[in-house]
Amino acid sequence: MTDIALLGFGTVGSGVAEVIDDRREYIKKRLGDEVRVKYILDLRDFPGSRYESRIVHDYGIILNDPDVRVVAEMMGGVHPAADFSRAALEAGKSVVTSNKAVVADCGAELLELARKRGVRYLFEASVGGGIPVVRPMTDDLAENEITKISGILNGTTNFILSKMESEGASFPDALAEAQRLGYAEADPTADVEGYDAARKILILAALAWGKLFPLEAVETLGIRSLTRADVEAAASEGYRVKLVATAEKLANGKIALSVSPRRVPSGTVLASTDGVFNAVRITGSVTGDVLFYGRGAGKLPTAGAVVSDIIDALERKSFAPPALFWGKGTASDVSSAGDLYLSVLD
Ligand code: NDP
Ligand code: HSE
Repeated sequence: MTDIALLGFGTVGSGVAEVIDDRREYIKKRLGDEVRVKYILDLRDFPGSRYESRIVHDYGIILNDPDVRVVAEMMGGVHPAADFSRAALEAGKSVVTSNKAVVADCGAELLELARKRGVRYLFEASVGGGIPVVRPMTDDLAENEITKISGILNGTTNFILSKMESEGASFPDALAEAQRLGYAEADPTADVEGYDAARKILILAALAWGKLFPLEAVETLGIRSLTRADVEAAASEGYRVKLVATAEKLANGKIALSVSPRRVPSGTVLASTDGVFNAVRITGSVTGDVLFYGRGAGKLPTAGAVVSDIIDALERKSFAPPALFWGKGTASDVSSAGDLYLSVLD
């Protein structure tokens, strides 16, 4: 029996418990051992839930149990999630997470700590929800020099824009539905103002170029001031409006990072990406354009990505090629992306 612990039993955490139960036999066959969720840390008690007996409120119980091999963090926010992740790695436990705020803030430090302790720090679910993009970038596209990344990286705003466009829904109603469906952040400002997408493009840029830049390096504009007239004007000219994140390595070697509402030519995959779906286009020197498409948020797709990391962490207990480590991106590495508000995405 291999024991793991979950931190956070909300949308994603409860999905992870379900996926592990549903896929129990397959996971056992694949790893040669059963995986058991021994503890679930949350602030609440969940009376009546089938997982009630595993709920704990003291993180020390998890940290001090030598049988717990992997800690899956799905609490959200930077603190105490980052401190809990650091403590687990220090204790020799692998950590997997869906929490892009922690990865974008402390990913470089946590990857280095995992390497020192001979364990893993994995974050497939932190970008693109259920879309496999982190592992493909580290493994399958490794032979490429990446020149450009562009994509729709936030499910909530894409859902809102789609609802406003196709059903004439109001912004508050569409946001409320995204919250009800479990897509939005606890504070949806991060979605609406573009900071969630900015954190995700920072993670992809770090995977591409080995440097983790601060959030301020991304020129970030959200969808709050978009009007129906903007969307209709774009449609009349053959475009759809999408919140697009881009990262580009320029000819001078500098990196330009942006999140902005853009006009995307109708008929392209990005323009046809609707609702909670996300799409990411990665341009590599060898493969050319590669597209990743799927559900960018939601309970089970995101939980699936977390569980794939749990399996990976248990299969490859220490896997640390030097290219997986990130330096600190500084202002001198960054170039302005310019004013991209409602500009056409090529
Ligand atoms: P939820 O708010 O649904 O769940 C978080 C859970 O963690 C809640 O039950 C919360 O309790 C609990 N929690 C918060 N702080 C603590 C703490 N200090 N100690 C113990 N428990 C705590 O969030 P989600 O599941 O939606 O998201 C979790 C993470 O996954 C976030 O980082 C999010 O950005 C990321 N993510 C979410 C996706 C989605 O579709 N929802 C998709 C991809 C990533 P309480 O409710 O009482 O505060
Ligand atoms: N709030 C995020 C989104 C969750 O809507 O994309 C997935 O990271």
